[in-house]
Amino acid sequence: MAMVVLGASGGLGRALTLELRRQFPDERIIALSRQPETGQSSSGDMIYYQVKDYDEDSLRAWVNEFQGSGEKLTGVVSAIGILHDEQTFPEKKLADITAENLTKLFSVNAIKPLLALKAFRPIIDKKATKFWVQLSAKVGSIEENYLGGWYAYRSSKAALNMLLKTASIELRRTHKNLVVAAIHPGTTDTALSEPFQGRIAANKLYSPEQSAERIIAVIKSLKPEQSGGFWHWDGTPLPY
Ligand SMILES: NC(=O)c1ccc[n+]([C@@H]2O[C@H](COP(=O)([O-])OP(=O)(O)OC[C@H]3O[C@@H](n4cnc5c(N)ncnc54)[C@H](OP(=O)(O)O)[C@@H]3O)[C@@H](O)[C@H]2O)c1
Repeated sequence: MAMVVLGASGGLGRALTLELRRQFPDERIIALSRQPETGQSSSGDMIYYQVKDYDEDSLRAWVNEFQGSGEKLTGVVSAIGILHDEQTFPEKKLADITAENLTKLFSVNAIKPLLALKAFRPIIDKKATKFWVQLSAKVGSIEENYLGGWYAYRSSKAALNMLLKTASIELRRTHKNLVVAAIHPGTTDTALSEPFQGRIAANKLYSPEQSAERIIAVIKSLKPEQSGGFWHWDGTPLPY
């Protein structure tokens, strides 16, 4: 039996990989990342696998290899996501919007996670696979958008939530034990939040280890009938 983490080199991806190993000692934990292995994340029951990107071809290649092992997948957590990079910074106003930034953030935050779900479909076992979780963000809630700004990040996470909800409805028919979930991890001390940490109270900025523990507690609490939900790290539902 095996579990997979996508985006395993990131702050939350790495912490989730280690926490899954701690909490599910009988499972093989497979860490997928675009980054080369650092040596920190492979040992014994933990397998590191470098993918070229989270495009269909790269993911299908990995899925084919996994299928060959005859193993079953019990859960997947994806920590893929982007807020900023060298060329991109969250927009404050309409004038900051560019087609390139919108396209990039939609690609990484919404499209790649769904392509991953599509590519993994053949190994999402009808009985054994219990969860497909993608980290989302509370700022992607349309109902709770009081501050505006961050156009590309907010809207790409809102799109992600819709895509996951839609997939959950399809999969509910065939995969009765599966929970598809979008989880907000809380503001966590990673490279993604680093430029914005100045405005966060110290007690509201969580370590990756703390967030990983909370995310896995939410995952463990979810029931198949709750599939398609959007969850806060404390386990309460968030409005879309
Ligand atoms: N940190 C926070 O405060 C916070 C708050 C709310 C939501 N989140 C969400 O939590 C998730 C994890 O975030 P994090 O804080 O751990 O960020 P992070 O350290 O930057 O990790 C994000 C991961 O996403 C993948 N990624 C980034 N850019 C990509 C690109 N252009 N193409 C494909 N993959 C890309 C990378 O995976 P590889 O390992 O393959 O490089 C990277 O490790 C994200 O979905 C984020 O939106 C975080």
